[in-house]
Amino acid sequence: MDAIADYRTYAVISPITAAVMKGAHVDVTWGDGRLSPYHYIWLRDNCPCSECVYGVTREQVFEIADAPMEIKASKVSVTEGGSLLVEWDQGHTSQYDAGWLRAHAYDEVSLAEQAAERPKPHRWNATLAVPTFGYDAIMQDDEVLLAWLLALRDTGLSLVNGVPVEPGSLKLVANRISFIRESNFGVLFNVQSKAEADSNAYTTFNLPLHTDLPTRELQPGLQFLHCLINNAVGGSSTFVDGFEIAEALRLEDPEAFAALSETRVEFRNKGRTSDYRCRAPIIALNEAGEVTEIRMANFLRGPFSTPVERMLPLYRAYRRFIEMTREARFRYRHRLEAGQMWCFDNRRALHARDEFDPTTGERHFQGCYIDRDELLSRILVLQRLAPESGRGS
Ligand code: OGA
Ligand code: ZN
Ligand code: ZN
Repeated sequence: MDAIADYRTYAVISPITAAVMKGAHVDVTWGDGRLSPYHYIWLRDNCPCSECVYGVTREQVFEIADAPMEIKASKVSVTEGGSLLVEWDQGHTSQYDAGWLRAHAYDEVSLAEQAAERPKPHRWNATLAVPTFGYDAIMQDDEVLLAWLLALRDTGLSLVNGVPVEPGSLKLVANRISFIRESNFGVLFNVQSKAEADSNAYTTFNLPLHTDLPTRELQPGLQFLHCLINNAVGGSSTFVDGFEIAEALRLEDPEAFAALSETRVEFRNKGRTSDYRCRAPIIALNEAGEVTEIRMANFLRGPFSTPVERMLPLYRAYRRFIEMTREARFRYRHRLEAGQMWCFDNRRALHARDEFDPTTGERHFQGCYIDRDELLSRILVLQRLAPESGRGS
């Protein structure tokens, strides 16, 4: 019988020492003294046997609505191999791997432990030592690839050196993670000054700190910017950690923080053949009030539309946010050379470039996007092979 309906194994942190049937649940006691109750309905729902889960897809075929809500076990025991064995009233038998069961325990201590183990952003400011990786190592070594992806997940900004300066090379790196997210600017976009520019990015202008495609319901998760040539005077890059600025704003100006996290602002990108719009707050929060996303590009913003009494507070907050992006304490600056590439979390790190002078030389970057889901999926798949590199749940 299969004991885990998954593609990975779960380390046995502590063995099961006792399993005792109580009213609507089984009390499992672990070697380290922890007590984890599991409801019968939960156990029945999570039976990993080949009747309940199709082995080829590892997906459930059983539906819990087909068992009675009051389902009870007739017997529970611990097998010689240390698994929990549950024999059901209706004749079915389920076996649960101890490592899997512990990883999914929902007693108070386990829930707190799982929350503490969930990856948290490592916030940064002007003094960032940017996580730096080599192209060859990323392309050839899965351990380096995983280290790079964890840096992207947790720090949200990285530099890759030694990328071949042939156009299209960034695609090879991006494909180490997954497929690219195409947009109206192409699979790959060329950041060059163009006469018929359909974005301020394709001019020589100073481009203030922004996220790309805030005009979309889902902003791209990762952005790559590969420097093919950077010979003109100017054109340095600046990054800020949007999460760091949001937290500073929360502390230093709570009213402004509230306005930016509660007011939906419209971002627009109008082209000759496209018209994208999205209305969303500049600072997105989750249920716990943690900052999960920054959406900001002044050059793509539509007119504010908010009740009269909120207009001036919104302007005050918006101006304050921009002023903070201009403060030296937050700004990490670096000028890319040919063969270097930024890769960053576009829903967190804001990026900018200085104005450049096209009469002094050429500047050509190529960019592309990948969604955050692809990053997180790739991390989990790589961790199946190297589970000691962190849990990444
Ligand atoms: C962009 C952009 C930065 C640069 O294309 O969205 O921000 O350095 N480019 O040209
Ligand atoms: Zn089953
Ligand atoms: Zn940009």
